[in-house]
Amino acid sequence: MKKIRVGLVGLGFSGSLHADAYAAIKDKADLVAVCDIDKEKAKMMAGCYGAKAYTDFNKMLEKEKLDAVDLCIPHHLHSKFVIAAAKAGKHVIVEKPIATTVEEAKKMIEATRKANVRFMVAEDQVHLPAHKLAKELLDKRAIGKIFMARVLSAVYDMPEDDKGWKLDPKNKGVLLDMAVHYFMILQWLIGPIEKVSAMAESVVVDKGKSDFDDNAIAIVKFKNGAIGDVSVTTVVAREPCNRLEFYGTEGTIIVDHSCEKPLMYHSVHRGMETDGWVRPEVEHETYPGYFPLAFRNEVKYFIDCILENREPEFGGKMGIESVKVVEAAYKAVKTGKTQNVK
Ligand SMILES: NC(=O)c1ccc[n+]([C@@H]2O[C@H](COP(=O)([O-])OP(=O)(O)OC[C@H]3O[C@@H](n4cnc5c(N)ncnc54)[C@H](O)[C@@H]3O)[C@@H](O)[C@H]2O)c1
Repeated sequence: MKKIRVGLVGLGFSGSLHADAYAAIKDKADLVAVCDIDKEKAKMMAGCYGAKAYTDFNKMLEKEKLDAVDLCIPHHLHSKFVIAAAKAGKHVIVEKPIATTVEEAKKMIEATRKANVRFMVAEDQVHLPAHKLAKELLDKRAIGKIFMARVLSAVYDMPEDDKGWKLDPKNKGVLLDMAVHYFMILQWLIGPIEKVSAMAESVVVDKGKSDFDDNAIAIVKFKNGAIGDVSVTTVVAREPCNRLEFYGTEGTIIVDHSCEKPLMYHSVHRGMETDGWVRPEVEHETYPGYFPLAFRNEVKYFIDCILENREPEFGGKMGIESVKVVEAAYKAVKTGKTQNVK
């Protein structure tokens, strides 16, 4: 079988997880080149994975015979690098968020369409077995008609520690960095978001001097009538929490990634009735231990899409729909008014 030759760009937190994911599918993909502006990181990762080290993305594109490029770089670089990779005829996977603006995302979708390459947004959480099971249950209407969804994502990830790029105004704040995960997941699970209102504040920087936000709450209304809230923060002084709740007319699903069995649900839906709460077995590691599992599933999915010549489900369209909600949410923060998602 042909192996996909991959070049990985950005070797920080997410890049390391992507590299580990390629090592787990050596029968399908070869990580032949790694690139980071930090020469030491590039050398070290190249040594670990038997790849060639680069500090310049364009040079890597020029010198290596790559089939695909994997981008784990700061948000504001996503569009430029995706478009360059597409123009060079490479399949591309880019970390979430697809881009910092809807405008940029449109150009990326157009460039990858024109080049006829596979394009996928690396949203790790849609590849978590617990979230796949939640989707299966929702699709089978185990909880009837969903009327409310709630999300809490609370982590410690201070931008000033080692991720100064997060404070660059182009990268906005936690609504773009974190809430975007849930705008994508909730739309995948429930359907399109129609309206959003939001508040966003910062502990790290003085809001009077910067638009950066590290705490935000967005309230959303879905086209099917359900409502939801997404609360995200990166400044908690405790163990991280990632919890999603889904309430329907015939049951409830709770996914709490701090638990060994993260999903529990009950149902009174005909043919699916449970005797109170049930906790099915799913492959899982308690958060944040689930990262390698999610990233391995995600990278394998991308490579399989290339090998099997099929369009990734989590492509440009899902990416842009989530950034549309982010943009509307920031508008809601500024105006204090609920915004339609266009
Ligand atoms: N799916 C997830 O759960 C998840 C988790 C973390 C990060 N991310 C995403 O991954 C992206 C990167 O975040 P991170 O946390 O890995 O950041 P990071 O700061 O840990 O790593 C980014 C790396 O990119 C390198 N870099 C910067 N400019 C470059 C350039 N021009 N060419 C080559 N390399 C360059 C930096 O030197 C750094 O090593 C972000 O878009 C973020 O949203 C996703």
